[in-house]
Amino acid sequence: MINVAVLGAGRIGRVHAENISRHPAAELVAVVDPILSNAQTLAAAFGGRALSDPLEVINNKAIDAVIIGTPTDTHVDLMLRAAAAGKAILCEKPVDLDITRAKAAEQELKKLNIPVMLGFNRRFDPSAAEIKRRLGEGDIGELHQVIITSRDPGLAPAEYLKHSGGIFRDMVIHDFDMARWLLGEDPVEVYASGSRMFAPELEALGDYDTVMVQMHTASGKQCHINCSRQAVYGYDQRIEVFGSQGMLMNDNLRANTVREYTAHQTESRVPLLDFFMQRYTDAYRLEMDAFITAVSSGKPLPVTPHDGCMALKLADAAQLSVETRAPVKIS
Ligand SMILES: NC(=O)c1ccc[n+]([C@@H]2O[C@H](COP(=O)([O-])OP(=O)(O)OC[C@H]3O[C@@H](n4cnc5c(N)ncnc54)[C@H](O)[C@@H]3O)[C@@H](O)[C@H]2O)c1
Repeated sequence: MINVAVLGAGRIGRVHAENISRHPAAELVAVVDPILSNAQTLAAAFGGRALSDPLEVINNKAIDAVIIGTPTDTHVDLMLRAAAAGKAILCEKPVDLDITRAKAAEQELKKLNIPVMLGFNRRFDPSAAEIKRRLGEGDIGELHQVIITSRDPGLAPAEYLKHSGGIFRDMVIHDFDMARWLLGEDPVEVYASGSRMFAPELEALGDYDTVMVQMHTASGKQCHINCSRQAVYGYDQRIEVFGSQGMLMNDNLRANTVREYTAHQTESRVPLLDFFMQRYTDAYRLEMDAFITAVSSGKPLPVTPHDGCMALKLADAAQLSVETRAPVKIS
């Protein structure tokens, strides 16, 4: 059994705590949050002790692994402290909002030689994983283009947006990781445009509600990401990959597959699963399973701090590209 503690008892902490509690090879031994009532709520639902100080977990030799689901600006500090204490780590994205700090942490973690995984859960979505598998099998020949649509159902709360680091570092970061993973190569140039189509208040934050990103790799593979903070029809998450011998694409998920036909409309269906906690339920479960399995077996973790830094680098390049209205080379 791997003894696991969850740091941060907020939205994502709940998802992870539940998945640990259901995992046959893991035990949830503690939930930590400075707002003790948050920790108590999760501990009561999924097990473990409720604590308010992460150091109580980090200094506890009986705890093998920590899940860091705390606000982004605490990730680096908590990762380094937990790694120095020898804990295996699954840390939420992004590593940090500052690439210099993120890269320094990556180097430090490498030196400590501790298993650290980054929470790019979408790689574990069964359809995304199937697309990746078939690409690897050569089902569509040589990959030419990756097209990612990623639209949130609505704007996050103002307080969250203030500290989020902007649409590229907070939201599109998942798509940058997906792009690198599917392309199988790092993009060498990024061009992005950003607009405020419905949330003018984002100007004060230097942020955007609607963005498009175009990238290419050294071998010429292309990627296009389109992203909105508000799709009135719900959480829209689609991937299309196009190659010399065909195309693969996934669909959005719904609670059921029933289509209704009446005198007034045809093909009417229930809404899309909304929001990430419903849409990516399987992905979070499989992500946790990949983490626990790798830690138990000593095998390499499937997503690394390096992946986190590379996605952040692309996010920074996209932000710069919007500001300068020019393509940005990735060094
Ligand atoms: N992978 C994903 O799909 C996904 C989804 C949502 C959030 N996230 C990431 O997870 C992180 C948390 O986001 P959230 O939406 O759950 O936030 P949240 O505000 O809902 O929860 C964060 C919790 O952490 C607690 N906290 C603050 N400092 C702490 C510390 N030092 N130690 C322990 N707990 C502490 C807060 O009191 C709060 O309860 C962010 O970095 C975010 O980018 C990832």
